[in-house]
Formats: sequence, C-alpha cells, structure tokens
Amino acid sequence: MNKKIAIFISGNGSNMDNIIRYFQLHHPKVNFVVFSNKKECKGISKAKNLNIETILISKTELIEGKVGDKLIDLKVDLIVLAGFLLKIPESFVRLFINKIINIHPSLLPKYGGKGMYGRYVHEAVIAKKEPESGITIHYVNEHYDEGGIISQHTVKLEKNETVESLQEKIHQLEMKYFPITIENLLQNEH
Ligand code: GRF
Repeated sequence: MNKKIAIFISGNGSNMDNIIRYFQLHHPKVNFVVFSNKKECKGISKAKNLNIETILISKTELIEGKVGDKLIDLKVDLIVLAGFLLKIPESFVRLFINKIINIHPSLLPKYGGKGMYGRYVHEAVIAKKEPESGITIHYVNEHYDEGGIISQHTVKLEKNETVESLQEKIHQLEMKYFPITIENLLQNEH
C-alpha cells in the first residue's frame, strides 16, 4: 500500500503513535505527516521519535485555508483526527469529503458534541448508569461528532466502574481497532 496519511493531534498522541507503529510494521510504504496545534504536546515528541515530519498549525491557519492548501500539496489520501481538539471548519470539510475521520470515546450519537472529550465523556456515561460504552470511528462533517459512522466497538460497564477503569477499557479498544479500521478504509479505496 502506497498512501499518505495526515494525523492531527492536540495532546498525548497515543493513538497516533499506535497507528504509525502498526503501519510501519504491516505497510511500511505508507507515509505519515503529523499536524498539531500544540507546540509542546507529548504527541509531537512521539512523532519525532518515530522520525515523522511534524507541522505546527494555528486555528487561524486552519480557518483561513493554509492547512488545507498544505494537505493538497502533500497529496494526502486520508486525514485522521486522533485527539485533535479544534473544530474543523466547513470550508475544510468541503475540500476533503469522506477523507477526514475521527475517533470518539463513546457510542455516538450518545455523549458527543462540544465539550464532550476525554474524561468528561466517561463521567457522563457513568453518571447515567449506562450498561455499556465504547468507541466510534466516523467521518467528519462541520458539526462536532455528527458525520457518518464507520465502525463502533463496545465494552460493558461494571457496577463499580470508575472514570479511570472505563478510560483504560476504551483505550484498549482504540489501540485494537483504530489502525485496522484505517487499513480497511485505505484498502477499499478505488
Ligand atoms: C482518545 O480517547 C480519542 O478517542 C479522543 O481523544 C483521545 C486521544 O488520546 N478523540 P491520545 O492523544 O491518542 O492519547
């Protein structure tokens, strides 16, 4: 597989790290470039350790189209949001229809939308005594967490579930399913 993937991050970058390692092992011809709006986040160091090009971007550059232009120049096949916290503007979505995907740590449409990220999601799930939660990998449109769903994977909640224990279960699902979902998408592209 000879493809180029852009991964967008704002923080820890554990999904980014896991995706790149998976492809380096199974599809070494796939190229990556990492975009971050946070200069010194852990994800940037992880990308550098993997010898991946990193590009720092600002909200203004995203809104005004500079980031879109750069992605077109780089001829990326897929844009993966992995813990990227800026809203994706409509102009950007229109440039890359069905080429931007995101991972969300709940079973959308439940527990999505503005402010629903990280532990806030798990706190809400536990407060509602949900019997299960999970992850959703979906296309990105101009509304937070509302694009078409590509795949979902679930976990059961225990009676004594905590935010931390649920976070760990969700993390395991992300590690297992995000890389193979991306692999499937790229393999099914014509
Ligand atoms: C993940 O939980 C993902 O579902 C969400 O942001 C988090 C990113 O974590 N969109 P990391 O930066 O990959 O560790």
